[in-house]
Amino acid sequence: MRLGVNIDHVATVRNARRTFEPDPLYAAIIAQMAGADQITLHVREDRRHVNENDLRRIIENVHIPVNLEMAPTEEMREIALTHRPNRVTLVPERREEITTEGGLDVISHKGYLEEFIKPLKEAGIEVSLFIDPDVGQIEASADIGADAVELHTGPYAEAWNAFDWKRVEGELAKLRLAAKFGRSLGLRVYAGHGLTYHNVKPITQIEEIEELNIGHSIVANAVLLGFERAVKEMINLLKG
Ligand code: PXP
Repeated sequence: MRLGVNIDHVATVRNARRTFEPDPLYAAIIAQMAGADQITLHVREDRRHVNENDLRRIIENVHIPVNLEMAPTEEMREIALTHRPNRVTLVPERREEITTEGGLDVISHKGYLEEFIKPLKEAGIEVSLFIDPDVGQIEASADIGADAVELHTGPYAEAWNAFDWKRVEGELAKLRLAAKFGRSLGLRVYAGHGLTYHNVKPITQIEEIEELNIGHSIVANAVLLGFERAVKEMINLLKG
C-alpha cells in the first residue's frame, strides 16, 4: 500500500511565527528520502497552512507525485492548471472548520462537478474525489468521470479515539464495502483522514485500497521524535 505524506502541518508551525521555518519543502524532501510514495498538500481558501508558493516549490523540487487537495472553486482550479500537480483531490471546504469534516457531496453537485473536472482531466491531471464510504457517492463519482475516490476515514478514526469498538467495526465494514464497490466500477480507491500509528493497521488490510494519505499523526510524531535531538543541539551551542 502506498503512502502519501501530507505536509500541511509543517506549514502550520511555520505560520505560527510567520517565518520561514520549518519549510514544508524540506519536509517533503525528507519524506521522499524516507520512501514516501507521494506528497499531499491542501491549499485552503484562507491559506492557513501551505500556500501557492509552497505548492510551486514542492512540485519543482520533489521527484515523487504531488497530490493537491483543494475545494472545487474557480480560484483553486486556476492554481491547479497553472502548477499541474499529478493529482487533484477535491474536498469540501468551509472557512470555519478546523479540518475537513465530511466527504464531498457528489450526488447533490453532480452537474457542477462534472463540468469542473473536465479541464483538469484534459490537462492530464488525475482527479480524485474525497467522499464518505457511501455507495451512492461512489456511483456518482464514477458517473461524472472521476479517476479515483479517496474514502473518508475520519468517522472510523473518531470511533477508535472513543474506544468504541462496535462503531469501529461498523465503520470498517462501510470502508470495506465502499472500497470493493469503487474498484468494481473501475475507480482507483484511496483513503485518509485521522489515521494514526494506532488505527492504521486494519485499513491496510482492505486490499482494494491502494494508498493512504496521512498528515497530522506523522507531523505530531516527527515533533516528538526529533525533540530530544533538537534540545541537545541547542545545549551544545550554549556550552560556548
Ligand atoms: N486526505 C484528505 C482528503 C484530507 O483532507 C486530509 C487532511 O487535510 C488528509 C487526507 C490527511 O488527514 P490527517 O492530517 O488527519 O492525516
